[in-house]
Amino acid sequence: MSGTFISFEGPDGAGKTSAMKAIVAKLQPTFGQKLTVTREPGGNPISESIRSIILDRKNTAMDYRTEALLYAAARRQHLAQTILPALADEQIVLCDRYVDSSIAYQGAGREIGESAVAEMNQFATDGLLPELTIYFDVPAKVGLKRIKAHRNPAKVDRLDVEQTAFHDRVRDAYLQLQAAEPDRIKLIDATQAPDQVVNEALALIQSILPKTL
Ligand code: TYD
Repeated sequence: MSGTFISFEGPDGAGKTSAMKAIVAKLQPTFGQKLTVTREPGGNPISESIRSIILDRKNTAMDYRTEALLYAAARRQHLAQTILPALADEQIVLCDRYVDSSIAYQGAGREIGESAVAEMNQFATDGLLPELTIYFDVPAKVGLKRIKAHRNPAKVDRLDVEQTAFHDRVRDAYLQLQAAEPDRIKLIDATQAPDQVVNEALALIQSILPKTL
């Protein structure tokens, strides 16, 4: 594996998606052909099909372990079909969410247990972790407020409508993951001005790129 694998994480409403757009725009002129920008759940047709089942608001009967297994299945396919080939091709892979999302959302949010979800994902990924994970940190209340203010109500998905307690558990789990793996997971205070958040993320990305290019 010779490329660079970077993931982006954060609770809902952290501004991760808009920050990623700005980051990609800044990296494009220098690294254009070398960038692979992708997301989970999704990233290729099979994984996107699984995504639409998971996030369908009509699927209220979905069992939490089913949900965790579907995320892991989407991730496996994404890794096998999208991430690994891109890394073999020396690409810089920028992935919107990866394993830490499952540990935080299913393990802690859904209370299935972080270690059970980590184990399931160990199988799905064969232990492959990003070289750098940028974690956009925001308190649950701030995140939920942002979602309500900015999103079209039709686009608020099934997980967004969970209670504040769920989002608190998600955020706490992220903070614990970051504390446990400070070398891989770098925290950015996402309550700061958007430009500051983007600049901090770019500095982190640039700090690991020269090693691998
Ligand atoms: P996404 O569309 O990336 O939302 P956002 O723009 O907020 O990042 O992800 C959709 C939802 O899927 C989001 O609420 C987090 C959730 N999710 C999990 O619960 N587990 C996972 O493993 C992944 C990848 C996402």
